Amino acid sequence: MFKDQVVIVTGAGRGIGAAAAKLFAQHGAKVVVNDLDAAALKSTVVEIESAGGVALDVPGSVTDPDFPDELMKLSMEAFGKINVLVNNAGYTWDGMIHKMTDEQWQAMLDVHATAPFRMIRALASYWRDAAKAEIQNTGVPQQPRCIVNISSTSGLHGNIGQANYATGKLGIVGLTKTIAKEWGNLGIRCNAVAFGLIDTRLTQSKHQNERIQIGERSIALGIPDEIRQAAAAHIPLGRAATPEEAASGILLMASPLAAYITGHTLEVTGGVGI
Ligand SMILES: NC(=O)c1ccc[n+]([C@@H]2O[C@H](COP(=O)([O-])OP(=O)(O)OC[C@H]3O[C@@H](n4cnc5c(N)ncnc54)[C@H](O)[C@@H]3O)[C@@H](O)[C@H]2O)c1
Repeated sequence: MFKDQVVIVTGAGRGIGAAAAKLFAQHGAKVVVNDLDAAALKSTVVEIESAGGVALDVPGSVTDPDFPDELMKLSMEAFGKINVLVNNAGYTWDGMIHKMTDEQWQAMLDVHATAPFRMIRALASYWRDAAKAEIQNTGVPQQPRCIVNISSTSGLHGNIGQANYATGKLGIVGLTKTIAKEWGNLGIRCNAVAFGLIDTRLTQSKHQNERIQIGERSIALGIPDEIRQAAAAHIPLGRAATPEEAASGILLMASPLAAYITGHTLEVTGGVGI
């Protein structure tokens, strides 16, 4: 489905991003993968290459203001074009609002809203003129071009302890719809995929003490056992999704099967929120 396409996936060192990168490669894409965690990212690349795929790793933080331009430049140098951008990198930094610091609030807006905004802006110079020229010459764009932004049920419905994350994850829905309107006449699609409970490091039991290192800070991840159990009980499909099931939603929206879908938020939630 993605033969000879070039696909960028951020946050592809583990979890949903790693599963998506592998799935895109299985479907013929050349993938550019990014993550903060260079070692985890390398293992994604090794897995893709040992299965016969093509991958380039570009480690770094998506919140570094210069990083998006660098990522696009390296992708173009390596493969000469970009077809799909998946803005997936992210983490949670939970706390009740009355105890939430400005830093905690801003960090979530930085990674879930500002970084995707800068990624999309960095694509503009590669995509807009190329699409315009193709349309002028032949009447239609010659390359598929689309963006998939990752949102969450926390953004669509709110979630206790996640005022910061929920705001970022709903912000990305507004960004998605706006890009769909601004770039639609160039044949460029932009959709969001909002996940419910996906079984990754982000959603492990708090007891497992999973953490992410952001600069000098080590931030606790995971959710309390009571909430994990309660969540499973109100998911119509009755369980969390695997990272591969989540990644399939991303591929669906990036694929030719979604050629006339733009500005949409696909809920991959096992039925939560219906
Ligand atoms: N797991 C879920 O239930 C769930 C639900 C809704 C939305 N999401 C979203 O899905 C996306 C992927 O999450 P996941 O569950 O796979 O988590 P994960 O922790 O398994 O993987 C996320 C990856 O993103 C990387 N990352 C974080 N900040 C980064 C940065 N600044 N620059 C580059 N890489 C960075 C991490 O190092 C990690 O490898 C996130 O945007 C998350 O908010 C997940």
